[in-house]
Amino acid sequence: MKIQKNVSLQPYNSFGLEATARYFVSLDSVATIQELLETKSYAAVPRIILGGGSNILLTKNIDGIVLKNDLKGIDVVEELADHWLVKAGAGENWHAFVLHALNKGWAGVENLSLIPGSVGAGPMQNIGAYGVELKDVFHSLEGVNLQTGEVEVFDKAACRFGYRESVFKRGLKDRYIITAVTLKLNKKPDLNTSYGAIEAELERLKIDKTSIKAISQAVINIRQRKLPDPAKIGNSGSFFKNPVVARSQFEELRSRFPDMVAYPVSETEVKLAAGWLIDRAGWKGRTFDHCGVHKKQALVLVNYGGAKGQHIYDLSEKILISVQEKFGVLLEREVNVL
Ligand code: EPU
Repeated sequence: MKIQKNVSLQPYNSFGLEATARYFVSLDSVATIQELLETKSYAAVPRIILGGGSNILLTKNIDGIVLKNDLKGIDVVEELADHWLVKAGAGENWHAFVLHALNKGWAGVENLSLIPGSVGAGPMQNIGAYGVELKDVFHSLEGVNLQTGEVEVFDKAACRFGYRESVFKRGLKDRYIITAVTLKLNKKPDLNTSYGAIEAELERLKIDKTSIKAISQAVINIRQRKLPDPAKIGNSGSFFKNPVVARSQFEELRSRFPDMVAYPVSETEVKLAAGWLIDRAGWKGRTFDHCGVHKKQALVLVNYGGAKGQHIYDLSEKILISVQEKFGVLLEREVNVL
């Protein structure tokens, strides 16, 4: 185990923000994690767990130890009649895992193509896109309990998945390092093209026989058209969650804004498109202090180069206030602010 000092975190966050970690360690095995936990000199130092760095906003230097999750490996651990149970190291890149699954013919993650970040971050915030969420293919995960050093297994119920939510963002925040994730992938694809944009893209591609590879390509094309590539323009995908409001509030809003975009959640609740709210509040494409609101998707805040995390945070605060004033809806950040 090699603990480095004063390490720049710029290469490790998709916003490309400059911040320094007082200590930094790459964790590539359960044994390394346990070794670190037993090292007395680091026992009292605050810990920050870092996956792919695609869902964090660094507003300051980290006066603690950054634990970089680098656990690798992808293996079929069990073959069932209709499924494969595939276990992946939490430090694997998510999209590389999806491409591997496509090549092997493992179905179920094709709609989740090109989501930035690591495999371990998948269950952490129940990643989702184009009609599919990670929980739909989730089997179980393993994590090291940072208090005991023991490996524990969490099944789907124990993870308490919700919309961009899990127990690891709430009650068990910072208590475990997720080390491996096991997914239940289908032998016979259950193709999900319910999201309108996918159907339209398949038509545009003139694909007559839909397959998992075709869906993946459609999703990649849609994402590349709408979302900035973090390798070119720093960003962390959707900065805010789509807010869920009472149906009565939605009815009232719709009477004032007839073209408001919303999706039913239950009899009593409706999910609003935060991108639409931010767009209509006049923020789309605006730039301030090297950062701004993406010109094609108002839900994405971007670092045009040289922005400070605090600037992006301040911008997000102004957006929150403005959306609250115009629509009476309180947005919630999807990214973790450090
Ligand atoms: N819209 C606007 N203006 C904008 C942005 C969006 O009017 O600037 C409208 C769109 O026209 C559309 C609606 O808002 O009618 C929703 O937009 P979109 O379909 O692009 O999806 P989203 O709600 O903005 C969510 C996820 C994305 C995911 C897409 C596709 C959240 C917070 N975001 O975005 O996830 O890729 O659906 O499934 O749930 C992420 O979490 O980082 C992420 C990118």
